[in-house]
Amino acid sequence: MTDDLKISIIDHPLVQHKLTLMRMEETGTKDFRELLEEISMLMAYEITRDLPLVDVQIKTPVAECTSKTLDGKKLGLIPILRAGLGMVDGIVKLIPTIKIGHVGMYRDPKTLKPVEYYCKLPKDVAERTLIVIDPMLATGGSAASALSLLKKKGAKHIIYLCLVSAPEGIRTINKLHPDIKIYTASVDKRLNEHGYIVPGLGDAGDRLFGTL
Ligand code: PRP
Ligand code: URA
Repeated sequence: MTDDLKISIIDHPLVQHKLTLMRMEETGTKDFRELLEEISMLMAYEITRDLPLVDVQIKTPVAECTSKTLDGKKLGLIPILRAGLGMVDGIVKLIPTIKIGHVGMYRDPKTLKPVEYYCKLPKDVAERTLIVIDPMLATGGSAASALSLLKKKGAKHIIYLCLVSAPEGIRTINKLHPDIKIYTASVDKRLNEHGYIVPGLGDAGDRLFGTL
């Protein structure tokens, strides 16, 4: 049963097509990297559709007019290291002025518990809407810890964006961080006994960096 999950699925055909290519075992590091960058850009387009706009007076080569511009909302992008790095460039192409912070978390392969090893954030996190990015939401341990850390550092408005998620991870975030909106391209079936998402796409960090 997944009816209880609070999640927004980005089901754009291009996102779904590219995700299928990423899932395929035979997809190598170069293509995996490029696809993740492209999908991240497409997902960023979807999650920013509610950004506030204001009217400005401008002059085109033909006439003066009132036109729309972004209301200068402060954003921050927070990749969870390592695999989250693969989503940065695609989003920065769309939002080139976005400030970037980094949170280092790895999942202990035995306990599956997250271990924090790095945190460097823009100073004014409290005034920014933070977009936390990580391709994989499995048990939810890494995401939940990263979100708690960001809140402890003063963050007040956070969005979480992942590519593939498991119901277990979504439930964890829904429970521990009910204020945080989660976006994903897919809710997969389940976790296996090693905490991998099934069918998933394997180890995102290893496929991205070629450390298989
Ligand atoms: C992966 C992934 C997430 C985490 C998800 O990172 O990128 O951060 O696992 O699993 P969870 O929801 O059960 O915590 P990993 O620990 O493999 O580190 P890496 O990105 O450095 O490879
Ligand atoms: N981390 C990954 O990279 N893949 C999974 O399936 C689970 C955690």
